[in-house]
Amino acid sequence: MHIAMIGAGYVGLTTSTCLAKLGHVVWCHDIDLERIERIEAGDIPIFEPGLAEAIMDVRESGNLHFSASAASTVADATAIMLAVGTPSRPDGDIDITQVESAARLIAPHLASGAVVIIKSTVSVGTSRRIREAIAETRGSLDFSVASNPEFLREGSAMADFLYPDRIVIGADDRHSAQVLQAIYAPLVKQNDVPILLTGTANAELIKHAANAFLALKIGFINDVANLCEEAGADILEVAQGIGLDHRIGSNFLMPGPGYGGSCFPKDTRAFAATARRHNAPQPLIEALIARNDERKAQLARRVINVAGKRSARVCILGAAFKKNTDDVRESPAITIIAELLNAGLKVAAHDPQARRNAERLLPAACWADCPYEAARESELVVIATEWDDYRELDLPRLASLMSGRRVFDFRNVLDPAAAQAAGLDYWGIGRAKAPARRLRASAGTGSPAFDRSVAAPGLL
Ligand code: UDX
Ligand code: UDX
Repeated sequence: MHIAMIGAGYVGLTTSTCLAKLGHVVWCHDIDLERIERIEAGDIPIFEPGLAEAIMDVRESGNLHFSASAASTVADATAIMLAVGTPSRPDGDIDITQVESAARLIAPHLASGAVVIIKSTVSVGTSRRIREAIAETRGSLDFSVASNPEFLREGSAMADFLYPDRIVIGADDRHSAQVLQAIYAPLVKQNDVPILLTGTANAELIKHAANAFLALKIGFINDVANLCEEAGADILEVAQGIGLDHRIGSNFLMPGPGYGGSCFPKDTRAFAATARRHNAPQPLIEALIARNDERKAQLARRVINVAGKRSARVCILGAAFKKNTDDVRESPAITIIAELLNAGLKVAAHDPQARRNAERLLPAACWADCPYEAARESELVVIATEWDDYRELDLPRLASLMSGRRVFDFRNVLDPAAAQAAGLDYWGIGRAKAPARRLRASAGTGSPAFDRSVAAPGLL
């Protein structure tokens, strides 16, 4: 099928490439001419594992093309996907200006029977509004507007596209439902993926509610981590224990500095704002948004309180909102670094992929080429992003370079015992000071096998 993609960002570029891998012929458009030229020159503007190689493959096979011309992109396309930016408005609701602008850009070029598919995350009711916007100039045209939300996680976006938990098709007419089912037919056949066929309003709400719920799990485990610290419990074991309940599941129960990225912060605000607009407020999500902001401030205060004398040098390892991406949008690490700089501390920072994006936001920080250079003469080290590079740090070498001894591991990536053996004063998140006891969930019996050497006397 000939598919047009409007927007060559994290979602548009990844989705275009994966659709081309399925055998479709995809034309990808962006209003940013420089972005298109960079991509056509093989300089991919985002870091996504495996994406650059995949783009090269599907361009060579003739399945993926790029264009800055809407007319050539949309001409003869059966499906036109919109994956343009949907930032927050001041009241938290989604700003669909870019989506409306993209719809008006393609309207003159739509052929009869065209299906405009909103891939961007939008508030419930947007598909109907976009249909009205296109009808303003093409009222007599036979066209459809559908919703096909994406559930891609940055850092694993291609795998998430090719092996999704489900595909959600929001269609208000048979034709658009058939076109979307045809688009995903190779994937359904290849990987036996469940398809949910529903109306556009349901599809739009599924996306927002899914992200809100996932973010709620994170906010919950971060608050439980605070309780573990005060009660002398270990969040890793508590999370393992609750996650073994299949109704809860073990994913999204890792505590950290709060959720960031271009989706959870924006989508939780939009979900809450949309709900208020529809007179069905969501107090749990409203509270979550406030807690997530407080989480970043709470952890920044921990550093400031320990860094003590002003102008102390602090090392921050990690700027991206999570590992395996260069994206720093609403990254907790960025907020924390800004707080430390505002408190008069000197910050030396490192990130294996996000340095370029972070440096633009935080020029006052010193950006090092390696974590050890960032740690040199630092009073303390903070691990803010769970890059694998930091899991394998040479801790004795790190300790020998620091002026202080404290390590705040905001992602629990280090082994507390190894850190303490290296002479570091290790502080994780939600962890008792002593090295964590390790429980092993034994296969088969369904109950964890306690390590008798650490079980309390008389427990077993
Ligand atoms: C975007 C939305 O932000 C997200 O909510 C949705 O789920 C998927 O699409 P993302 O791909 O991360 O996510 O956005 P971004 O990286 O900002 O890329 C958007 C692209 O659209 C940019 O390259 C921008 O130049 C382009 N764009 C924007 C257009 O091509 N036309 C427009 O009218 C506006
Ligand atoms: C998210 C959704 O997972 C995805 O389905 C949707 O399409 C887009 O938004 P993404 O924002 O790329 O994807 O990242 P995700 O892996 O969900 O992490 C979001 C934030 O939560 C990150 O800051 C991450 O560090 C944090 N997080 C995640 C935790 O703090 N703990 C966890 O256990 C999981």
